[in-house]
Amino acid sequence: MNPFTWDEKYLVGHPEIDADHRALLRMTEELYDQIKDGTAQDRLGGVLARLASYSKFHFETEESLMRRTAYRDYDQHRREHERFTTTMSHLTKRMEDIADDLLVFLGGWVDEHTCGADRRVMEHVKGPESPGSGTNASSIGA
Ligand SMILES: [Fe+2]
Ligand SMILES: [Fe+2]
Repeated sequence: MNPFTWDEKYLVGHPEIDADHRALLRMTEELYDQIKDGTAQDRLGGVLARLASYSKFHFETEESLMRRTAYRDYDQHRREHERFTTTMSHLTKRMEDIADDLLVFLGGWVDEHTCGADRRVMEHVKGPESPGSGTNASSIGA
């Protein structure tokens, strides 16, 4: 069961804002599915693995060229290659944690902002202190 599936409980009572929320929730629902079934990680993981493999090959080509031509800044240049490889491998390892963090953050946002703060805006829009209150207030644009 996808926790981001649209439900009437998300309605705040403003057609335009509700349509936006429905569209945003649909994207979040898709992201949840792709993270949970591993599609997101597979795709990203696949590209990252190709990047790692090709950059290794490319760095070796460059380093060999620099050695053959006695390039003066060889050591410094090689350290930059190493930094790239180390950082990429570190970030790749963190990917799974990031996917989980993303879902926890999005879940909290839907509950607290959309169902809380946005609903309070609509109470204001339709309330007595709003300039448009009483006259079709629900169709006031953002
Ligand atoms: Fe909103
Ligand atoms: Fe908002």
